[in-house]
Amino acid sequence: MIFKELGKTGEKISVIGLGSWDLGERTDDKISAIKTALSLGVNFIDTAEIYGTEPLVGEAIKNENAFIATKVWTNHFHYDDVIKACDGSLQKLGVKQVGLYQLHWPNKSVDIKETMRAMEKLVDDGKVRYIGVSNFDKKQFIEAQNSLSKYDIVSNQVEYSVLVRDPEAELLPYLQKEHVTLIAYSPFGKGVLFKPKYKKLTDVLSNIGKKYGKTAAQVALNWLISKDEVVAIPKASTPAHAVDDVQSSDFSLEQADVSAIDYLNKKFKRKSLKRKIHPVLHVYNLLKRR
Ligand SMILES: NC(=O)c1ccc[n+]([C@@H]2O[C@H](COP(=O)([O-])OP(=O)(O)OC[C@H]3O[C@@H](n4cnc5c(N)ncnc54)[C@H](OP(=O)(O)O)[C@@H]3O)[C@@H](O)[C@H]2O)c1
Repeated sequence: MIFKELGKTGEKISVIGLGSWDLGERTDDKISAIKTALSLGVNFIDTAEIYGTEPLVGEAIKNENAFIATKVWTNHFHYDDVIKACDGSLQKLGVKQVGLYQLHWPNKSVDIKETMRAMEKLVDDGKVRYIGVSNFDKKQFIEAQNSLSKYDIVSNQVEYSVLVRDPEAELLPYLQKEHVTLIAYSPFGKGVLFKPKYKKLTDVLSNIGKKYGKTAAQVALNWLISKDEVVAIPKASTPAHAVDDVQSSDFSLEQADVSAIDYLNKKFKRKSLKRKIHPVLHVYNLLKRR
């Protein structure tokens, strides 16, 4: 497993963490998926009070050395509510401290300074090690950072995948410059990547993967973690998917392959209109020629 520094904290988190949204009912397989990932070097598990998976995650990480990230939902952004929500999460997880506590989404109706005062109190009280946010754009991130008096925001968790490239325009370059970790959620587009609709795209990824003995899923994850400051948190409900996801980090895509995947989105849309050929097919043809 490869590790990256979380923001500028000196704390090392695995480049592949595990998400836990939409895991549903507790089953032995889901517990086993998390335990398998931990046994293979993952140390970073993401959950949230709203997911209802904190007890499941808590059970899976019991007696393990895991870095837990959880989130406070937007209806708990007033000072006392943040503190109470965090206490609730700690109790459900069965831990005294979480590694990362994140504001789940921006909430304009509560003064961010009030919310951040509570987040700093949680750090001071040792209940939280680091403060993060989620789904904040660049402007919201800067405002949130400026609302803190003594700590930095160390991460921003946003949707980022081969399918969803929005962070590349503004947010990712900013976070990279500031050494803030971008935690890429829904790295498989919530599983949509594997639907027949995206077969041409997964064919391109599979074709690239052949060279490394890797699957389309593993190429999609490796492409994300090839970016500075980016770690990814796929959800895996089964040990087999957990193993597959973890093994996405034991190789490095060559720069030409990273660029080919970058190119899928950045240039081909426009060029493909001129060429009247589907962008994914065009990349596929290019790769075949290499
Ligand atoms: N901050 C936010 O607002 C926010 C929003 C959404 C998600 N998230 C976080 O990001 C995590 C991941 O995102 P996500 O749950 O939306 O979806 P995702 O990770 O993009 O996709 C999950 C889907 O991919 C499948 N999968 C996993 N590994 C696979 C593999 N190696 N090969 C083929 N299929 C594979 C899973 O199947 P199985 O379930 O059968 O293994 C599941 O159907 C969440 O669990 C959550 O922690 C955060």
